[in-house]
Amino acid sequence: MPNPPLILGLESSCDDTAAAVLRGREVLSSVVMGQAELHRAFGGVVPEIAARAHAEKLDLCVADAVRQAGIALKDIDAIAVTSGPGLIGGVLSGVMLAKGLAAGLNRPLIGVNHLAGHALTPRLTDDLPFPYLMLLVSGGHCQFLIVRGPQEFTRLGGTIDDAPGEAFDKTARLLGLPQPGGPSVQAAAESGDETRFRFPRPLLDRPGCDLSFSGLKTALLRQRDGLIADHGGLHDRDIADLSAGFQAAVRDVLLEKTQRALAIYLAEASAQPGFAIAGGVAANAPLRAGLETLCADRGVTFSAPPLALCTDNAAMIAFAGGLLLAQGVQHDMTLSARPRWPLDAAAAPLVGSGKKGAKA
Ligand code: KG4
Ligand code: ZN
Repeated sequence: MPNPPLILGLESSCDDTAAAVLRGREVLSSVVMGQAELHRAFGGVVPEIAARAHAEKLDLCVADAVRQAGIALKDIDAIAVTSGPGLIGGVLSGVMLAKGLAAGLNRPLIGVNHLAGHALTPRLTDDLPFPYLMLLVSGGHCQFLIVRGPQEFTRLGGTIDDAPGEAFDKTARLLGLPQPGGPSVQAAAESGDETRFRFPRPLLDRPGCDLSFSGLKTALLRQRDGLIADHGGLHDRDIADLSAGFQAAVRDVLLEKTQRALAIYLAEASAQPGFAIAGGVAANAPLRAGLETLCADRGVTFSAPPLALCTDNAAMIAFAGGLLLAQGVQHDMTLSARPRWPLDAAAAPLVGSGKKGAKA
């Protein structure tokens, strides 16, 4: 096998169908086919619709990725696939296709944990040295991880209910702003007064790095309904102020918990400490600015992969697959799809976390 090998990655665990071809850290192609329009009318990802769309699009996605990489399918040295955690129908579609390709091409098959794909991306983009601290914040995930190696993760905490992206999306829906909610709430908040409405800062009174976001959405609903009852509707100023108040609460909670996670991580005294973010919410400007300042104050390298590699994609799966292959990991035709698969098996389960994609 050439070194580094040519790896085809497949991703289908939530609402993005993706395929990518990588050689080491070189991304030869990365194709992502989103499904947002299929789910729009339902206000969330519908698992059955997602599974069917993955089954319909995966082979087209692979064909595109292979063509864009300028290679032939037979040139692929190994196939890496997200085998969990996620929506079972989608994960199954990916695993079945990967098995077919591996059997047909007679190449190694590597099942990859989707969260490991996100967590290892700073190695792909910035060659960030192990161990680094990672904050995964998206529509389906929210957790702090110390990333020690391709298969070694320590989870310091995570959400016990909604993921922050979900909370942004629900907030947008309640305020009549377009989806995805993150960018539209951020835009509305720019002209808002974050102090006009009081939002809770959930779980700050408890020690540790766990988070909670479902109470924020309830607080927003109450404030909104109060305004509608008093004035018969929402003015643009109300929407801006509610957006700003909500966004500030999410920012404050994430910054405080990041300080705690950094303190735990830095106590291990890494010679070159690093902090990385991943997930769509990492695009939030006030949050990002706050995190950068925290890191700069502590002499910690800040890494934020470009958005296309921060959100769900298959390049991260191919890259993680390559790291596992180098460690001798290979799977056979008994590889199964795992709806739940925590990265840190020793950490207590996070009940109900990341409902959107049923992530671990
Ligand atoms: O990583 P991602 O693409 O995948 C899923 O988890 O599906 O994250 C999407 C999430 C959405 O909930 C979206 O509202 C949120 O990321 N998001 C943002 C921003 N841009 C995207 N949240 C806050 N501020 C933003 N600027
Ligand atoms: Zn993801």
